[in-house]
Amino acid sequence: MKDHCQALVLDILTSTVTSASGPGRTLWVMDENPAIDGLLKLNGNKSIDVVSNRYDTSEQMAKLGINTFLSDFDFSALGVYDTIIYRISKEKMLTHHVINEALRHLTPEGKLFVIGEKTDGIKSISKQAAELYEADTSARKFGNAYLAEFNKPSPAPLDTKYLPTAGYTELRLINHPVMNFYSKPGVFGWEKVDKGSQLLVSCLPPVIQYMKGVDSILDLGCGWGYLMLATQSIPDAVRVATDNNVAAIDAAIKNFAEAGMNVQCLVDDCASQLRQRFDLILCNPPFHQGFQVSDTLTEKFLKSASRLSRRSTRVIFVVNQFIPLQKLAESCFKESRLLAAADGFNVFELRP
Ligand SMILES: C[S@@+](CC[C@H](N)C(=O)[O-])C[C@H]1O[C@@H](n2cnc3c(N)ncnc32)[C@H](O)[C@@H]1O
Repeated sequence: MKDHCQALVLDILTSTVTSASGPGRTLWVMDENPAIDGLLKLNGNKSIDVVSNRYDTSEQMAKLGINTFLSDFDFSALGVYDTIIYRISKEKMLTHHVINEALRHLTPEGKLFVIGEKTDGIKSISKQAAELYEADTSARKFGNAYLAEFNKPSPAPLDTKYLPTAGYTELRLINHPVMNFYSKPGVFGWEKVDKGSQLLVSCLPPVIQYMKGVDSILDLGCGWGYLMLATQSIPDAVRVATDNNVAAIDAAIKNFAEAGMNVQCLVDDCASQLRQRFDLILCNPPFHQGFQVSDTLTEKFLKSASRLSRRSTRVIFVVNQFIPLQKLAESCFKESRLLAAADGFNVFELRP
């Protein structure tokens, strides 16, 4: 199905770089993975900067020769731009943060383009942005996508008019019935302990007992670190936790430090920088690529887990029951065994 939001982003990017008055500076705020094929025409373009909190996105952009800032949407290192383009995020506080920061980083004649689908909440977001930018609220419709444009207001609005972000950038203590932990908006399920991950953790004691010694553990796609935190009772293991999202790694570092656990934390695309093999690999893989459900993403995590395994490794995956994990695992694991099924999730033990 055509992603009208992505098509709009590309149209605007293309028109800014081919503008008759010469390309101004453009910032593309990129929260989800782009469709890379459409971007090839921007190859090596020096008038575009990208800011993203995802390692895979920053790598893809670097390959295209586009300057990318990898951070949790920290705008402090960025300059000012004639155009800022933003497909709104699923997380409302992040969307507010970006719309506020965009205002501070536009040139006096600069323009912000805000794009999203109805289900993303684009209508209410464009209304809120219109109040801040003292502009008309109407968003135009292109297929499923809506586009709202805002010129930089002059004089700059009072601080009290900025959209509430509830301290978007700060980690905060979450008092959850399962455990207390630090997290923030922008991290997967940031205020929750994922039900699937809880099911995986409930399967761990017999697996660990059977293994008779675990010297190394990998948490693949660690989020704020729940799965690794659940291995605390295993003494003296080498521990690595990795995630694509800068905000997740910031939270995981804090949680491991609070728990007194020594864990190497790495921002990476599916552990691509790791070479060592692990005794135990834990994973609750994402199943959305951008805004679409994707089996390819599950396969990518399976391949990575297989590459980092040796014969004796135990790999434990939890997935939504609609994901055909055993079928997808056939090409890289010899055996798979269902350990638990509940609440719409399946936990599997995979053996290389
Ligand atoms: C379903 S969440 C699980 C998070 C955490 N392990 C838990 O149990 O709560 C999947 C995680 O994978 C991360 N992720 C998505 N794409 C990734 C990639 N290419 N490489 C590494 N991590 C990725 C997401 O940022 C997210 O934190």
